[in-house]
Amino acid sequence: MTDPRLDELTRQFPDLKVSVEPGDLEHHGRDWTRRWTPAPRCIAWPATVEEVQGIVRWANRHQVGIVPSGGRTGLSGGAVATDGEVVLSLDRMNRVLAFDPIDRTLTVQAGIALEAVQGAARERGLLYPVDFAARGSCQIGGNIATNAGGIRVIRYGNTRQWVAGLKVVTGTGDLLDLNRGLVKNASGYDFRHLVVGSEGTLGIVVEATLSLTSPPPPSQVMLLAVPAMDALMKVFAEARHRLSLEAFEFFTDRALRHVLAHGAQRPFEGDHPFYVVTEFDAADARAEAAALAFFESCMDEGWVVDGAIASSEAQAAALWRLREGITESLAPHKPYKNDISVRISAVPAFMEEMQQLLTTGYPDFEVVWFGHIGDGNLHINVLKPADLDNALFVEQCEHVTSLLVDTLARHGGSISAEHGIGLVKKPWLGSVRSEAEITLMRGIKAVWDPNGIMNPGKLL
Ligand code: FAD
Ligand code: MLT
Ligand code: ZN
Repeated sequence: MTDPRLDELTRQFPDLKVSVEPGDLEHHGRDWTRRWTPAPRCIAWPATVEEVQGIVRWANRHQVGIVPSGGRTGLSGGAVATDGEVVLSLDRMNRVLAFDPIDRTLTVQAGIALEAVQGAARERGLLYPVDFAARGSCQIGGNIATNAGGIRVIRYGNTRQWVAGLKVVTGTGDLLDLNRGLVKNASGYDFRHLVVGSEGTLGIVVEATLSLTSPPPPSQVMLLAVPAMDALMKVFAEARHRLSLEAFEFFTDRALRHVLAHGAQRPFEGDHPFYVVTEFDAADARAEAAALAFFESCMDEGWVVDGAIASSEAQAAALWRLREGITESLAPHKPYKNDISVRISAVPAFMEEMQQLLTTGYPDFEVVWFGHIGDGNLHINVLKPADLDNALFVEQCEHVTSLLVDTLARHGGSISAEHGIGLVKKPWLGSVRSEAEITLMRGIKAVWDPNGIMNPGKLL
């Protein structure tokens, strides 16, 4: 080490793993956004809560920023370090600490991958139901910091719903033990919920006690071809009425084209403008008959023109891949990502307006729609033409975002449904949160992190 301040830290914590290797700085200084040049001071991999507290206290003494870092699958620039910060990676704090079969809770360190939590729950005959394509790499701490959503929100809600307790190191280095797995606790402000979705700006999640639930009954996965945008929510209403839904996701023909080019299998012949992947309970013959009745009714109405139902786990996975593979297939095109939400009832009117706005706003860009339409969350991705400079591309996209926020405001929607504000959506926070709310957020931040060292420049 050549930085005497870092020497001080490693002297105090001889077991703390720290790197200033250029490869590590680049790799750990960025997330999936790839818009900013990583330039952290160092990467620190604490293995204990005491080391996390030590780093925070050291950072306060030296006025150094800390970027809490999970799996860095974030899509809002929340885990990006561009300005001499310490990237505090939770990678080494990745163990299951306890399971309680009576409480049906799993206590884990924050750096455990989502998929490992799902597996640990499964091994114990239970379900941790938050799920999405980044499951193998994203960490529970990152999920909590972003209040991650995913593909099963219509049945199970967001990450927030499953957090029964949290241990958090605040921006002053204090360790808080929040809610301790209690089901009922009316003893004042519930700071646990303040930390969920705080994007690493208040403190570092070091441990979480997660609620588990019973595994769902057997399910079926169906893919539907939908001829027009205005039919999508009619299909959803019909599905909700007739089936017990676990997931209802959509994507466009353009999304399908990218995912097929990326190795997925074409589900059926013919091109259709929209597709829905839905999963629903199919425990018995009655449920299967309801699925058939749903499909026939949509066909009769002309809302669906083709469909496929998976008859094996492999087929179900192949249908899910068409939806879950989209993000990866678009990544080489450096997409500008919109992650917006409106109330479910507002989706049809909002989509109509959005389509008009985007047709005029992006006449020359390829726009790919997909997302969790069943919970009101649309991912509208704009792809960068290969010959266009990145900064110019972002500038043009941000101009359209300024128009989009007016449409969102009219529909009472949000500029970020599940990815977070981070750096990407920071200019538009004021379009969805009032001045009074933002003043309160700043006040809360000042109490939790008086020296402003926690994820500086993000969110606020
Ligand atoms: P990171 O990217 O490392 O960090 C995200 C934010 O959390 C940053 O602000 C960071 O500072 C903070 N943070 C991380 N760990 C901690 C901690 N221990 N304490 C305090 N703050 C912390 N998101 C969805 O919601 N739904 C989806 O369906 C979805 N699908 C995705 C699919 C793909 C293929 C990819 C690449 C991403 C997807 N995402 C999705 C986005 C991303 O996976 C989530 O935001 C995820 O929750 C981020 O977790 P992470 O561990 O990678 O966090
Ligand atoms: C998804 O739903 O696939 C994710 O949120 C990722 C994305 O928006 O690209
Ligand atoms: Zn999503």
